[in-house]
Amino acid sequence: MHTADRPAPAAVPTQHGQPDTTEAQAEFDARIAAEGRIEPRDWMPEAYRKTLIRQIGQHAHSEIIGMQPEGNWITRAPSLKRKSILMAKVQDEAGHGLYLYSAAETLGIDRDTMTEQLIEGTARYSSIFNYPTPTWADMGAIGWLVDGAAICNQVPLCRASYGPYARAMVRICKEESFHQRQGFEILYELSHGTEAQKAMAQDAVDRWWWPSLMMFGPPDADSPNSAQSMAWKIKRFSNDELRQRFVDMTVPQSEVLGLTLPDPDLKWNEDRGHYDFGEIDWTEFKEVLKGRGPCNHLRIANRKAAHDNGAWVREAASAYAAKQSRRTADAYQEAS
Ligand SMILES: [Fe+2]
Ligand SMILES: [Fe+2]
Repeated sequence: MHTADRPAPAAVPTQHGQPDTTEAQAEFDARIAAEGRIEPRDWMPEAYRKTLIRQIGQHAHSEIIGMQPEGNWITRAPSLKRKSILMAKVQDEAGHGLYLYSAAETLGIDRDTMTEQLIEGTARYSSIFNYPTPTWADMGAIGWLVDGAAICNQVPLCRASYGPYARAMVRICKEESFHQRQGFEILYELSHGTEAQKAMAQDAVDRWWWPSLMMFGPPDADSPNSAQSMAWKIKRFSNDELRQRFVDMTVPQSEVLGLTLPDPDLKWNEDRGHYDFGEIDWTEFKEVLKGRGPCNHLRIANRKAAHDNGAWVREAASAYAAKQSRRTADAYQEAS
């Protein structure tokens, strides 16, 4: 366990001027092995820092871009109650983005740089948000499936070895559970409504099922960085294990909803104690990843416009902060 009175040893310069990090590395390894936490001021291998910046940054961007497909429905939600639930959900996602940008900043990157990378298209975000949301039932399917998959992915991250990331995930996961429930409830009402409503719910589930399975990333055999992330205890389970967990959790819920999942190979396997499921079409995944998904350009263009439109707010906030700090400095001078 990490304690403040036991700091990681600093790298000691050698004769050649190169820091000798052997001792620091040993301390880092021991702490990881003992399920301890690495904190911002601790020594950490450069590759660990870079991996975390990439992963947490990507995660933050996904939360922020993920506001768009649902934000799209706030003005058209079918009732005041639905509107306020959806608005709260989209605001939660903004909050998730902010916790995560802050967690990434503890690793030595600033938020402006991350935002620039997102807008310029050099940083990634989850491909799931590049699909369109043409009907109200999409709000149900996103909550139930996309937030459901996010929970499977993120609950183990509450035990990630990097302290600020793990702590941010605890609150995020609590809110994701609410998101999943509200999505399920939208679909439940639709599937127990008129024929047309049920058909709309089924159509949304048909469109979101496979992309949700892709959210867990490529199969373990094609996921070269996973082993290192697992050794660092950032990642706790493999992509395929998490995907299986999601399928096992979701199939019984689909039965309660009275909706079918669009996979003829989906069936309970008594021997394995898990559901078997069909082949995933990874060509589609790769296309979306390369920026050729249905909404990639729209999402980035919207994000850039929002950033540009917010320039005056950032300027006003920094002018106010500068004024406040001048006032504090003046008051301090007068008092001394
Ligand atoms: Fe979220
Ligand atoms: Fe969510």
